[in-house]
This record gives sequence, structure tokens and C-alpha cells, in this order.
Amino acid sequence: MNIPTITTILTSTTEATDLKTITFRYPGSVLPGQFFMIWIPGVDEIPMSVSEITKDVKGITFRKIGDATHALYHLSQGSKIGVRGPYGNGFKPTGKHLLFVGGGTGIAMLVPAVEQARKKKLQSTVIIGVKTKNELFFEDRLRRCGATVLVSTDDGSKGYKGFASDLAKDILNKENIDAVFTCGPEPMMKTLLSCCRTIPFQAALERYMKCSIGICGQCCVGNGLRVCLDGPIFDGSTLKKVEDFGVYKRDAAGRKILF
Ligand SMILES: Cc1cc2nc3c(=O)[nH]c(=O)nc-3n(C[C@H](O)[C@H](O)[C@H](O)COP(=O)(O)OP(=O)(O)OC[C@H]3O[C@@H](n4cnc5c(N)ncnc54)[C@H](O)[C@@H]3O)c2cc1C
Ligand code: FES
Repeated sequence: MNIPTITTILTSTTEATDLKTITFRYPGSVLPGQFFMIWIPGVDEIPMSVSEITKDVKGITFRKIGDATHALYHLSQGSKIGVRGPYGNGFKPTGKHLLFVGGGTGIAMLVPAVEQARKKKLQSTVIIGVKTKNELFFEDRLRRCGATVLVSTDDGSKGYKGFASDLAKDILNKENIDAVFTCGPEPMMKTLLSCCRTIPFQAALERYMKCSIGICGQCCVGNGLRVCLDGPIFDGSTLKKVEDFGVYKRDAAGRKILF
């Protein structure tokens, strides 16, 4: 499991500007919220959450931002990559009416969780928040599985004008929500946590990863929690005690980077 399996890219699909989904053959079970380490030969190995789950084929959805994601973006059908994992814990759906809040690229990893909730006939309201409407993706996929989808854009070009966390606050005041699941910018998730005093809350964290198997300590948050092993999904009561949540992350050299 900790050695990359070499696999072939089956499809490479542009979802929005600079955002792609690639799928690859990778048999085995994976939980929504878990991640793979994706090795791009000659470039780097990076963590990526699963965004598509079938028995034999898995997918990841990513934004082109640096060397590794640029290289991955330009690989086409038939190219080889290395995959190890899945790693981490995954979401644990609880309750009957679930609220999912995804911000930016964070939307991608929430979608399999919504699809599995809908398969169990759980009422699912999903807020997808982006800066502007050209960055929207997976809206149709979410509607197809029977979720209620609400869009927020920072510039008001589509749906609610403002942050996804502000729209979520409205929904939490109006509806009987049993649990909240989120992935996106940490300041957004922190605001959301403060709106969920008694409502169960689960959020996905991203930290710089090296080993991804709990050895190197690179991804630690709070009092020694390893995001790769104890997370990447953490519940609200744990996050309330993590002083770096929504405040800073660390780069590859361990330096603090404020959000
Ligand atoms: C558990 C987890 C799941 C993730 N899932 C997704 C996803 O589904 N889609 C997506 O687009 N991105 C995801 N990311 C972020 C993704 O791993 C980084 O964007 C990617 O590593 C950037 O690499 P780069 O060489 O293109 O960019 P760089 O120029 O190297 O870095 C750009 C940014 O990515 C961060 N980064 C770089 N390497 C790593 C690393 N090894 N671990 C963590 N962060 C890194 C840097 O701190 C920097 O902020 C995830 C990260 C984690 C930890
Ligand atoms: S990445 Fe090494 S302990 Fe998490």
C-alpha cells in the first residue's frame, strides 16, 4: 500500500478554467474524504483527495497551481502515474438532513460524500462557493444525484453574492440541519464552525505532506495531530482545540504561513 502502483490515465476532463479531473484504474474500496499520493514521474508526489469512486476506477480533481499540478494537467489519456493509498479517515455521515459546504477546489472531494449520502436517501443540501461563475464545476453532477444545490459567488455573477459560509449561516437558521460537512479555505471553515454550536461538524484539512503515513511529522496540527493519519477529516470538538485551524499552515521547511 505504501509503494506507488503504476497505473494509466483513462480520462482527462477539463471541468473549469485550470481545473481538471483525471480518472485511472485503481481497484479497491475508498471512502469519500480519503486521499491518494499521486506520483508524477520526474516531477513530484502530491496528496489529492478522491473525487470519483467506482469499484475499479477512481478519479481526482485538481487546480493547476505549481510544478506538480501543471505536469499532471498536461498528462493525457494513456500517460502513466504512480498512486499509493488511500490514506486518511474519510467523512462519517450522521443524521437525516446533511449540509455540505464546499469552497473552491474543496468542492471536489465533497461530491462523492454527497453521492453516497443520496444513495442512502439522506436529504442533502449542498452549497458550492467560488469567486466567480467561470470557476463553478460539478453543479450538474450534484443535481443529478438529487441534492439541493445552492451556488454562491464572491462577485455575485451567479447565485448568492458573498461567501459560502454566509449562505450556510442563512440555511442553518432556516432549516433543521443535523450535521455539517465542509472542505475549502480554512478561514471559511472556521467561520462555519462558529455557526455550528450544537450541530455535529466535520471539516477536511490540507497540510503539506511528505510521508502521508504518520512518520515524518510534517503535517502535524494542534497538539501533534497528524493530518495524514488522524485526519484529514476532523470533527468540530477537535478543531476547537487546534489553535492553528484557520490561522496558519506550515510550508515544506516547517515555516508558518498565515492564511
Ligand atoms: C489531504 C490533501 C488532499 C488534497 N486534495 C486536493 C485536491 O483534491 N485537489 C487539489 O487541487 N489539491 C488538493 N490538495 C492540495 C495539493 O496537494 C497541492 O495543491 C499540490 O501539492 C500542489 O503542488 P504543486 O507542485 O502543483 O504546487 P506547489 O507550487 O509546490 O505548491 C502550491 C501550494 O500547494 C501546497 N503543496 C505543495 N506540495 C504539497 C504537498 N506535498 N502536500 C500538501 N500541500 C502541498 C504548497 O504548500 C502551496 O501552498 C490536497 C492536499 C492535501 C494535503
Ligand atoms: S505527512 Fe508525514 S506524518 Fe503526515
